[in-house]
Amino acid sequence: TIYPTADQASQAVAHELASIIRQRQAEGRNCVLGLATGSTPKSVYAELIRLHREEGLSFYNVITFNLDEYYPISWSALQSYVRFMWEYLFDHIDIPKENINIPNGSIPKEEIDTFCKNYDAKIDSAGGLDVQLLGIGRTGHIGFNEPGSRLDSTTRLITLDHVTRIDAASDFFGEEHVPRTAITMGIGTIFKAKRIILMAWGEGKAQIIKKTVEGKITESIPATFLQTHPNVGVILDTASCAEL
Ligand code: GLP
Repeated sequence: TIYPTADQASQAVAHELASIIRQRQAEGRNCVLGLATGSTPKSVYAELIRLHREEGLSFYNVITFNLDEYYPISWSALQSYVRFMWEYLFDHIDIPKENINIPNGSIPKEEIDTFCKNYDAKIDSAGGLDVQLLGIGRTGHIGFNEPGSRLDSTTRLITLDHVTRIDAASDFFGEEHVPRTAITMGIGTIFKAKRIILMAWGEGKAQIIKKTVEGKITESIPATFLQTHPNVGVILDTASCAEL
């Protein structure tokens, strides 16, 4: 679906999430959301906060699982996704703290495998993801599933692509400070979501969106796997679909 502006597209995404949250509330059930970081979802979170403040949308029944986190990183670091999520969403809504799940970027290395297995198991035991939000990186990564990631991959430690580290360099005040690894939900983990919403704004995403939507399905552009999921919404602004 193409909207004239990123703001209009973001409002549509936020309204879709709000309607699922409210529907679940009416049924007395939880709503399980997979959340993303980066600049793309910021305007979606801003609209969710507005709906909370002005239209009484509550998040008491919402359970969240974030896609990824740099490793190693302290939760209090400027660039940590924990910090991002609190700043742009959680601090401003009424979600119970114990319902929030974000990969832990500061656990000892030998505990990562167990942490990742438990993360996937926790998503399953929460009832699975109702909706997974996704941005897209220049390499075609979703979460931090870089080129070479398999369709059946699960949550794990991954080595970041050079292009991804260049793109993150300004956040870290220099490429040499960007962590070399990250913990990411796998493509298989993401694919278990009942619905996936991929978002992209701006002309900088036009090329990768063309490859993702119209290109051959390949491990070298992991986002192309989305062509095979039964319920994906690709939400774009006019600029990001310039090459379609
Ligand atoms: C990072 C995140 C991704 C995100 C991507 C794009 O790599 N791990 O989840 O989709 O950046 O970021 P942006 O939305 O800022 O373009």
